[in-house]
Amino acid sequence: MSQREIKDPSGNVVMRVTEYDGHLFPANIFGDVGDTLKQLNEMTFQDSDICVVSYPKSGTHWCYEIVSMLRNNTSEFQTVVPPLFGMFPVEKLKQVPNGVYVSHLVPRHMPKDFIKKQCKIINIYRNPKDVVVSLFNFIKKTKAGDLMKDMQFDVFFGMFMNGQLPGGTWSKYMKEWTDFTEENPSYPFLNICYEDMKKDLKGHVKKISTFLQLDSSEGLIDEISKKCEFQTMSKFKNNHVPDYMKKLTDVQDSHVLYRKGEAGDWKNWLKVAQSEALEADVQAANVPLEIKYM
Ligand code: A3P
Repeated sequence: MSQREIKDPSGNVVMRVTEYDGHLFPANIFGDVGDTLKQLNEMTFQDSDICVVSYPKSGTHWCYEIVSMLRNNTSEFQTVVPPLFGMFPVEKLKQVPNGVYVSHLVPRHMPKDFIKKQCKIINIYRNPKDVVVSLFNFIKKTKAGDLMKDMQFDVFFGMFMNGQLPGGTWSKYMKEWTDFTEENPSYPFLNICYEDMKKDLKGHVKKISTFLQLDSSEGLIDEISKKCEFQTMSKFKNNHVPDYMKKLTDVQDSHVLYRKGEAGDWKNWLKVAQSEALEADVQAANVPLEIKYM
């Protein structure tokens, strides 16, 4: 494990990260990464526990909300920050009442007992072109991205492509998960495509309920899909910013995780060459998922 400074092409330090087992983690948020992951590995789980895994900015919180509502048999929103593996101390994770977690970890860093018990995993993935735009806008508002406030998108894009940011490259992250599903074909695992869920939210709420083997009523599925439309959900979240967000950001008058909630905003940001380079990178990694470059 080593502490590293990420520098932009001009040599300015723009972020501090911890490198652990070939992976970059934001410094200060994950504490001592080695310790945190070791403790997580010793945690025990219930067979019925669930985790939403994703590359950051892929709609993790959206999916978490749907899973939590279905699991709790309600269409009431959560008012807490989702329990993120690695970021939350294990003591806090142990107190999660409904056994629904979120994670940006790669498979080999997931808690052993969770995987051994074959707890259900839902992976929400999104067009990486929209991911990089969402990440750029998000990081600048966080404390971890304090030194990136004046960074231009083109510079950020280069760092994203080079895997210099926490999480590494999108294609490598996704490939590790698709390799996991190929190597463990009987593992209960559901892929959700952000763009498809935007198009047919109700159909996806139903799909998630079926995957979780829940007997959700048609009425509940209908209510959840209405509540989780971006406008309704972001309005609620902006009016109920959890106190915990103060650890991550100084922005307090709105919830920094809810920005536009659109598919295709990348067209306002990426140049043709950037769009092509990203698609080429994904193609070269051979990620066996249908990516909606809309
Ligand atoms: P944008 O920045 O493009 O708006 P994550 O939860 O993984 O951090 O992802 C955040 C992204 O998901 C943000 O994207 C956010 O607006 C979007 N999002 C959150 N809730 C959503 C919803 N109900 N419908 C669609 N997108 C949503």
